[in-house]
Amino acid sequence: MKAAFISAYGSPDQITTGELPIPEINSDEILIKVHATSVNPVDWKIASGSMRRFLKIQFPYIPGADVSGVVEKTGSEVSKFKKGDEVFAFLDIVKAGACAQFVACKESLVAFKPRHITHEEASTIPLAGVTAIQALGKRKQDIKANDHYLILGSAGGVGILALQIVKAHGAFVTSVVSGSGMHLCNRLGADDTIDYTKTDIRKIESRFDFIFDTTGKYNYFNLSHLLKKKGGVFVTTLPSFTTILAMILLSMLRIFRYKKKVSIVMAKPYLPDLEYAGRLILSHKLNAVIDKMYSLSEIKEAWSHSIKGSVKGKIVVKIQ
Ligand SMILES: NC(=O)c1ccc[n+]([C@@H]2O[C@H](COP(=O)([O-])OP(=O)(O)OC[C@H]3O[C@@H](n4cnc5c(N)ncnc54)[C@H](OP(=O)(O)O)[C@@H]3O)[C@@H](O)[C@H]2O)c1
Repeated sequence: MKAAFISAYGSPDQITTGELPIPEINSDEILIKVHATSVNPVDWKIASGSMRRFLKIQFPYIPGADVSGVVEKTGSEVSKFKKGDEVFAFLDIVKAGACAQFVACKESLVAFKPRHITHEEASTIPLAGVTAIQALGKRKQDIKANDHYLILGSAGGVGILALQIVKAHGAFVTSVVSGSGMHLCNRLGADDTIDYTKTDIRKIESRFDFIFDTTGKYNYFNLSHLLKKKGGVFVTTLPSFTTILAMILLSMLRIFRYKKKVSIVMAKPYLPDLEYAGRLILSHKLNAVIDKMYSLSEIKEAWSHSIKGSVKGKIVVKIQ
């Protein structure tokens, strides 16, 4: 099968395409004929070797944690799916494999793709959507109508889904973005948008119940005054020394009834979260946003685009 892969850690530029064997499946697995995958920054971070202490991958490593495609073959214990079903999934990042014509995946990670959207659209949802859901609360029961959310990086892959999930629960969202992200976030329901290239976000007057930093460019210490006095939560997608320090300090302050909280989201594939995203898509409360589409042979360009930044929505790699 055609696949994109890396053979050693190094510059993300070394990703190449070629022929690799179609994966064998275990009895609890499904072979998916991949129609589309989407790029996540973790793909090229893994390739660079910067995560090798936490994630032990094997070479050749085929990236791609997001898949949308059609069931080609099922293992003997698989009961929920049959050949021809349209599915999408958030794959285990250590194995990944969706930048290829076929990928093997445990049945327990796979959901039916919402029918009214394309494979390209569906491929933008799994990793970023599950990250947003896990960051915002344990399957979002924590999102209260009328609470005020500040989403930093609101037009990016994770942020654009977080914005829509919060709006689906009737809460208010202030989106922090730049350039064309303003228009995109307004269109998808943001109550307010701030261009961080023009306004120093630390100096704004509003106060929030929840700050979600999807960019890793902010930290609790320089934004804690934007949380409401009675409490509030700061969640980030990027673990840093500063955030870990803030978590330790705040847990110590809890004995003085200090109510503000800090946490780091470490997204894991979890089917109920993906199915929840699927239901929001079916009820038209969650929409896929595609920045640009590439073919498998353009994988280097797709990664360069992601590395360069300024992504609005998701970068998709079309396979079939
Ligand atoms: N811990 C986890 O489980 C987890 C899961 C998913 C993602 N992540 C990490 O989270 C980060 C975001 O992921 P993603 O997929 O959303 O990336 P992305 O699609 O590249 O989006 C990042 C967004 O942030 C914006 N941005 C950059 N600097 C900003 C700033 N100072 N203020 C506000 N917005 C800013 C960018 O647009 P402009 O530059 O045009 O403003 C872009 O729209 C990545 O580092 C990724 O590795 C972690």
